[in-house]
Amino acid sequence: MPTRTVLEGGGFPVRRPIPMSALTSPFLLLDEMGPVDWPPNGAIGAPNHPHRGFETVTYLLQGRMNHADSAGNSGDLNPGDVQWMTAGKGVIHSELPHPDFYQTGGIMHGFQIWVNLPAADKMMQPRYQDIPAKDIPVVTSQDGLVEVRVIAGRSLGQSAIIDTVIPITYLHMTLKPGGKIVQSIDKGLNGMIYCFSGCLNIEQKTLNDGQLGILSDGDEVCLSVSESADEEVNLLVLAGPQIDEPIARYGPFVMNTEQEIMQAIEDYNSGTLA
Ligand code: CO
Repeated sequence: MPTRTVLEGGGFPVRRPIPMSALTSPFLLLDEMGPVDWPPNGAIGAPNHPHRGFETVTYLLQGRMNHADSAGNSGDLNPGDVQWMTAGKGVIHSELPHPDFYQTGGIMHGFQIWVNLPAADKMMQPRYQDIPAKDIPVVTSQDGLVEVRVIAGRSLGQSAIIDTVIPITYLHMTLKPGGKIVQSIDKGLNGMIYCFSGCLNIEQKTLNDGQLGILSDGDEVCLSVSESADEEVNLLVLAGPQIDEPIARYGPFVMNTEQEIMQAIEDYNSGTLA
């Protein structure tokens, strides 16, 4: 069975959006928000803005956010919570610091990932999955050295509860020194690993804090941390099918043609996007 290895040993420098490419499809953006230590009354968020044609996935690690959208959904995001928003034909939403957090300030840290949708699903009804931390499945290896939060997909025999439009794997793994896990990723899917603390061994290569590694094709990948490491490793595993369709992208709209982008702008301006 072929095993996956890292193509880009150094990876892209990502604490910010990665450039979109065929290698990272269907992921359009991987944004690590912070960690930022906000002063009291200083935290900044994203007031009302539209999306069409893809999904935004927010995973909060620290801090507290508040969101509301045009479909009438609203709520808080606390550490460990996941908001999987399928914008489909259109959503207008705000993503702001929670008023209490805004007042006190503090550390905000999390991820926002954009997942593209195939042409056939771009204009689907918006869908919204707001999953509190306590409902995100967490599975621990037998030796206790590896912990996996299964946001989407499957790991260590545990399946996610979030339903995705196309088959997506989204895992947050924490490996203590000496920890090791073999993760299966279906052959043919694009797979990547983002390390956001410590030094991770992927097969024969290493990935450091802030680096993204693109995996070659195969059906599994071995991730480990040296026994002599002085800190644990945190990483995201992302995988999904490549969407081989043209992409037209303008700000918060990701469609297939310029014409569809113009239509999205027109719909937004005329108040019919959402
Ligand atoms: Co947004």
